[in-house]
Amino acid sequence: METKIAVLKGEIGEEQFIKEASKVIRNGGTVAFPTETVYGLGANALKSDSVKKIFEAKGRPQDNPLIIHVASKDIDEYVKNVPEVAKKLMDKFWPGPLTLILEKKDIVPNETSANLNTIGVRMPKSDIALKLIKESGVPIAAPSANISGRPSPTDIERCIEDLKGRVNYIIGGDKSNVGVESTIVDCTVTPPIVLRPGGVTLESLREVDSSIEIDKGLLNNSDDFKPKAPGMKYRHYAPNAKLKIIKGNRKKTIEKIREMVHNYIKAGMKVGILISEENIDMYSEGEKIVLGSYNDLSKVASNLFEALRKCNDLNVDIILAEAFTEEGLGIAIMNRLNKAAGYDIIEA
Ligand code: TXA
Ligand code: MG
Repeated sequence: METKIAVLKGEIGEEQFIKEASKVIRNGGTVAFPTETVYGLGANALKSDSVKKIFEAKGRPQDNPLIIHVASKDIDEYVKNVPEVAKKLMDKFWPGPLTLILEKKDIVPNETSANLNTIGVRMPKSDIALKLIKESGVPIAAPSANISGRPSPTDIERCIEDLKGRVNYIIGGDKSNVGVESTIVDCTVTPPIVLRPGGVTLESLREVDSSIEIDKGLLNNSDDFKPKAPGMKYRHYAPNAKLKIIKGNRKKTIEKIREMVHNYIKAGMKVGILISEENIDMYSEGEKIVLGSYNDLSKVASNLFEALRKCNDLNVDIILAEAFTEEGLGIAIMNRLNKAAGYDIIEA
């Protein structure tokens, strides 16, 4: 399939490209586009034939539902009822990196919701995304714009790398500044439950409703609790090489990584290390990839997926990552890292 690529530089040509891309959506095609979290791969959320193309392009399992992206808080057309807490969350965090799970109306086809009677709804903050949805005149179903299983793309080049030849249109320019996907909150249950940690922190959600809980299936990899969001059970975000996380106090973590890097290199392997800015001078061996300061987790989040893809470019045989704190945005960062590592965590 031929993919039209529109790389936006400032506002030059933007209007025309948005028009073209929205026409593709209206005609039932697929468009990859930027959002503030990660790039999305969109199609008309209300047409099953269009939505099927997303699953095909990504190689996505059929039982993994999609999020629909809207350009306003007026969502009564798509969902049955909007509980008070959902309204408050929308008011505080939309447009932004928050997806609400609500009861869906029949207008949303079963292909979009993977046969669930609920649907995830999000109003993204990205200007391009909002313009594209408005101009299309329909909600846009969009998972992250990666081939299933790979790290989500945070810029247009990574999007092209995965989807050129598989989708009708790729539009973008800006880097996704949040860098991890939206936080998903199930508002069909009381108390509401976080099904996926993301760009909005648990602490800030609890400022709206202190009873909001986090899905226990997310906190460890135990068989007793399975994650409630269908997508959270899949191996995801995985770089080509095996990734191991080293966890412990700063000194011990550094010592452990240094020792492991040394041994892997001696055994003839190429090693990538994902580290915090503060520790850059602590390592003399290995391919260093700095994620950001451990005092600035928003930077770490925005660099994370690109760092995992960089490891593929560098063709490393193994990757070692320093663990980050599991507070604030750190919950989302460690959730993605844990999944990318298949929960291979070493205590230093
Ligand atoms: O930030 C984001 O949310 C990005 C951008 C493109 O908006 N999108 C995204 O979509 O991350 P995706 O498809 O990669 O992840 C959607 C997640 C999956 O884990 C899926 O299982 C879950 O949302 N999900 C969708 N609908 C659901 C529902 N009705 N109930 C429970 N989980 C749901
Ligand atoms: Mg995804």
